[in-house]
Parts: sequence; structure tokens; C-alpha cells
Amino acid sequence: MYITRRERFSSAHKLINKNLDNYENSQIYGKCCELHGHNYELFVTVHGNINKKTGFVIDLKDLKKIILNKVIRKLDHNYLNDVDFLKDQITTTENLCVKIWEQLEKPIKKLGGKLYKLKIEETENNSFEYFGQS
Ligand code: NI
Repeated sequence: MYITRRERFSSAHKLINKNLDNYENSQIYGKCCELHGHNYELFVTVHGNINKKTGFVIDLKDLKKIILNKVIRKLDHNYLNDVDFLKDQITTTENLCVKIWEQLEKPIKKLGGKLYKLKIEETENNSFEYFGQS
């Protein structure tokens, strides 16, 4: 059984590789080097068996709490390039997927589920899916 919780966050960022100079950054990222923001949607999918006692895979209230505390509280209305778990990252949505996965994997395991997939919609046209390292 797979269950998915959606959360939203609105954040600002700049796409910059600190190892490159301004010219190279602007060649790669264009206007995305400049400060701008997105209304992101994060979809967290958990896999597990139905618990006979509760009828749940995991309690979605608990999943919501973990996502809020570990991720949304840190990202929403913040500047992504300064967020603790994104330090030294190029704040592409690809890297966001990997770093958010690292924040959520263990706490979800403690609830008795397995983090199966993260999906982030950055715009209505661009979305990213991550299934962890394989
Ligand atoms: Ni952007």
C-alpha cells in the first residue's frame, strides 16, 4: 500500500555554483542566478502494510508532523540557499529532492513506514521525482 501526503512551501532562491565565476553561472543558469521564488508542492509517498490494529499504513497526522518539522518549517518563507540542510548545495529542485529525502527517511522509518518516493512540483510544467539512491 502506498500513501501520499502533500505539503506546500513558498521559498526564494538563487541558482549559483560557488565554484564558478559570475560569467559561467550566468551562462548555465541565466536569469535563475537572480533572486526569485517558487510556490513548491511536495508529495511524500510512504510504502507499508496495513497495521491490523489501526487499519493505517502509518498515521497521516504523524507523517504531517514530521514533514512540517523537518522540512516545511525550515523552507517555507525562507531563502533556500541559507537553509541548514541545503548549505553548499546548488538549490536546484533535483538537489532539494535528495536533501529532503535525507531529512525524512529515518523519521518515517521510525513510524513503521518506508519512504518510497518524493515528488516536487516547482511550477505547473516542471516536476521532479526521486526514489532514493538505488
Ligand atoms: Ni528557481
